[in-house]
Amino acid sequence: MSGTKTTYNDKVVRQFAVMTVIWGIVGMLVGVIIAAQLVWPELNIGFLHFGRLRPLHTNAVIFAFGGCALFATSYWCVQRTSHARLWGGPLVPFTFWGWQLVILLAAISLPLGFTQGKEYAELEWPIDILITLVWVSYALVFFGTIGKRTVSHIYVANWFFGAFIIAVALLHLVNSAAVPVTLTKSYSAYAGVQDAMIQWWYGHNAVGFFLTAGFLGMMYYFVPKQAGRPVYSYRLSVVHFWALIFTYMWAGPHHLHYTALPDWTQSVGMVFSLILLAPSWGGMINGIMTLSGAWHKLRDDPILKFLITSLSFYGMSTFEGPMMSIKTVNALSHYTDWTVGHVHSGALGWVAMVSIGSIYYLLPKLFGKTEMYSTKLMTTHFWIATIGTVLYIASTWISGVMQGLMWRAVNADGTLAYSFVESVKGSYPFWAIRWLGGVLFLSGMLIMAYNMFKTMAGGKTQDMPVIAPAGHHA
Ligand code: HEM
Ligand code: HEM
Repeated sequence: MSGTKTTYNDKVVRQFAVMTVIWGIVGMLVGVIIAAQLVWPELNIGFLHFGRLRPLHTNAVIFAFGGCALFATSYWCVQRTSHARLWGGPLVPFTFWGWQLVILLAAISLPLGFTQGKEYAELEWPIDILITLVWVSYALVFFGTIGKRTVSHIYVANWFFGAFIIAVALLHLVNSAAVPVTLTKSYSAYAGVQDAMIQWWYGHNAVGFFLTAGFLGMMYYFVPKQAGRPVYSYRLSVVHFWALIFTYMWAGPHHLHYTALPDWTQSVGMVFSLILLAPSWGGMINGIMTLSGAWHKLRDDPILKFLITSLSFYGMSTFEGPMMSIKTVNALSHYTDWTVGHVHSGALGWVAMVSIGSIYYLLPKLFGKTEMYSTKLMTTHFWIATIGTVLYIASTWISGVMQGLMWRAVNADGTLAYSFVESVKGSYPFWAIRWLGGVLFLSGMLIMAYNMFKTMAGGKTQDMPVIAPAGHHA
């Protein structure tokens, strides 16, 4: 192709990969702080209390850590599988610097209390506009690169990344529609139950597309690469894609069971959530079976350990989610730590682990090395992260079920058996264990940062030449 540079744009991948680790540490540190605040309330100091720091945590881990991981891996994958350099010229660095600015503005505005009050969409309208600009640029770069690919096939990972980019644009635009009053205050364009419905259509699809589809793209590229084998079933991956994309969009109302939302809408949400088990497990099985015949590689390859364990947690959380969407189960789980346990089995076990595995795959290649500085430290990281995740989710499951049972327990005369504060007191030991799990997970990230900087030291940062597809004579 005329005018095409002969190297991949690895600079932007390098930038996003390094920032994934940095923001991972920041976001998880805030997670550890808010976990500590629940155990030791005196740690709520001034305006840096739980209420302000909680959204900082969720935004930092989802959009800063998860977002940077998605940018890095999608940019790497789309170039390698399209055999083309990223399209878009200055739009490419704009996506990096623009996204970092969004994160910085979030880190300032959320602790100061500026919020639209919508979970995972807290940022005020000027930041929302910046997000839109960055996201449109991201879409142009990604699809522009697909457009100039030198192979006819579009690899399945790119379908997942592409769906994630389009869906997030749609969700963000619809849910963030607001009437600005001042620079830092706006009111949602929707009211009452419609507002709630749109918010959880957004919220659930943020899970489905931001926290799932993009990471499935990662899975479909990095698992076969690291295992050195093709995807177990390419046909299943295509079925997986369409079934997942279609089903996720309808499941949002399971976040609003027993609310003012019409009952039939809640039932639709529940039914689609139950159906969602099938494509989720199809994808999980497809990923894990990619390793069939190469299971021995798991023994001493920490990257595969991260990737395959992440798929197991993905399977677990996508079994648990449909169960929690059943109204009678949700009557017990809603408002309790069970939800938080479910969230983190997805967030730590799936999202964080698949990202960590993929970034470990990328780092040495990005810095001109054959492997990470220390494989032993990667293995240590793996075990610390796994133990941390298990401590986190086991403790919150137990406290969650305990809370639910205590709140519904009644005496023979119909009065409540427990006051609310008794359930809080009963939760303390489990919150302490959750905090310890978080400390372990964060320690693993610090080990990763050390390993990363050692790998970067003295490394070459030259972009790699674009490889012409087989049979192609450029
Ligand atoms: C088949 C897939 C899944 C289904 C059907 C599902 C279903 C559910 C249900 C029923 C709830 C509780 C809603 C409530 O009581 O308020 C929930 C909460 C949540 N789930 Fe899942 N889940 C699935 C997979 C996942 C995965 C893989 C992740 C993360 C990566 C995840 C992240 C979340 C989050 C963040 C919340 C909390 C939302 C909030 O209240 O702030 N879910 N999910
Ligand atoms: C060191 C690791 C982490 C720790 C200690 C931690 C801790 C916490 C705590 C204490 C909460 C508040 C729970 C409550 O309100 O009762 C929370 C909420 C949340 N965290 Fe984390 N977290 C960690 C990592 C992550 C990661 C990596 C992600 C996502 C990729 C994540 C996503 C979330 C979400 C979505 C919520 C809101 C849950 C809901 O509304 O139900 N966390 N976290």
